[in-house]
Amino acid sequence: MITDAIVQLFRDALPKGRVTDDQELVRPWTNDWRGKYHGDCAAILSPRSVEEVAAIVGLAAEHCVPLVPQGGNTSMVGGATPPADGTALILSLRAMNAIRSLDPSANLIVCEAGVILQNLHEAAEAAGRRFPLSLGARGAATVGGLISTNAGGTQVLRHGTMRAQVEGLEAVLPDGSILHGLSALKKDNRGYDLRHLLIGAEGTIGIVTAASLRLVPAVTARSVAWAGVGSPEQALALLRHMEAALGDAVEGFEVMSDEILTVVLSEVPGARRPIAGTAPWHVLIEAVTSDPAKDDRHGNQMEDALAGAFQQGKLLDATIANSEGQAEALWKLRESVSASEKAKGPAMQYDISVPVTSMPAFMIDAKRACEAEFPGATAESYGHLGDGNIHFHVRPPRDPSDRGAAWVASEGETVSRFVNDLVVAAGGSISAEHGIGQMKVAELARLASPARLHAMRAIKTAFDPQGIMNPGKLVPLAT
Ligand code: MLT
Ligand code: ZN
Repeated sequence: MITDAIVQLFRDALPKGRVTDDQELVRPWTNDWRGKYHGDCAAILSPRSVEEVAAIVGLAAEHCVPLVPQGGNTSMVGGATPPADGTALILSLRAMNAIRSLDPSANLIVCEAGVILQNLHEAAEAAGRRFPLSLGARGAATVGGLISTNAGGTQVLRHGTMRAQVEGLEAVLPDGSILHGLSALKKDNRGYDLRHLLIGAEGTIGIVTAASLRLVPAVTARSVAWAGVGSPEQALALLRHMEAALGDAVEGFEVMSDEILTVVLSEVPGARRPIAGTAPWHVLIEAVTSDPAKDDRHGNQMEDALAGAFQQGKLLDATIANSEGQAEALWKLRESVSASEKAKGPAMQYDISVPVTSMPAFMIDAKRACEAEFPGATAESYGHLGDGNIHFHVRPPRDPSDRGAAWVASEGETVSRFVNDLVVAAGGSISAEHGIGQMKVAELARLASPARLHAMRAIKTAFDPQGIMNPGKLVPLAT
């Protein structure tokens, strides 16, 4: 347990105001976004500089105090939730929210870990640039969390995951030493790439405190369209058609089943069905240009490409947003899926990838297999088809008494094994973009190869021999 004396140690070592033990303020940060994990925590530590983080981690190492790093607490896998037994302190990076520098000519921005993604977008835009990664939680998710989970989002198709955006990193290692690596070196062959080791490490081998991030030219024109298609296979054919017609202007290509769209429409006030006819599957397409000379032709090119797709039987119906307001309304449908699904009640959620070409068949086959295996349950998918990554949700049989909570509690583990076995059989990954957190540790232990488990445990132990960095997350303990 964390005693008052331990909390006092941190209070003594830090400037005033860095330690919060008022449980009214602590408690909201001890639950995860999905509402599946409930932690207990004596205090939140809120450093304002990398030196303060180093002091905290050094003290934690000296007294063997486990730390749970936290940014916006938007993890989908319980990655930032402290343990329920109260044995860890939360290390919040939210107060480290400065943009240290922005160099438009170098296309670089240096952000501290607590910078909120939305603020990063706005800073880049104000300088005539763009940060090319976005996701629904951008109003709360922070740079440190995005890096520590190697976040994806809706522009990976063209710009890659967070890993592709990080040009340099500053971090505090588990012994309290500071790794200074913010200079954006194009070439650096000093052996092990510590930057890439820390990206996606979920705070288990160090604390990311700041990063140099890549910027790209601002968008000068965009067109956003919604298409109804007959199947995931037709959706993938449509993506390839759009890429052939528009090249790398295609940035967003998001798919969802009609059942998922219906859930969103029932939850989002004022939301409307984008196309008149019925379609079993839907696709949101965004194409952008950063070349003002191409602005005038941009919308027409989207229209021509969609018309060609229609003639070739690659879509059922489509509409193009003719204002920014309409474009935003289409994106709102997509970005409201998680919250709408959550509002529908307990369910089992999977974030999976298989090779892109296998994904359309996987989506149909996995749904059929799940619904046959668990009578009354329904399985739906949505997400980033062009990345071979979908979010696959299994909803309990209808039960008005508890909205399916009892089913999730009794069957959830069996469902997870069933779905994850399908993923592994298809050569896929049980976590495409959300990470492992605490939600998937047991399944990672069951399904990862001995080589992967050995390497992960060896890295964890080498960096963090006391096991104080985000314990219980990502790395399965040796049995
Ligand atoms: C998304 O694509 O909407 C996010 O990854 C969150 C989710 O799983 O719903
Ligand atoms: Zn996603």
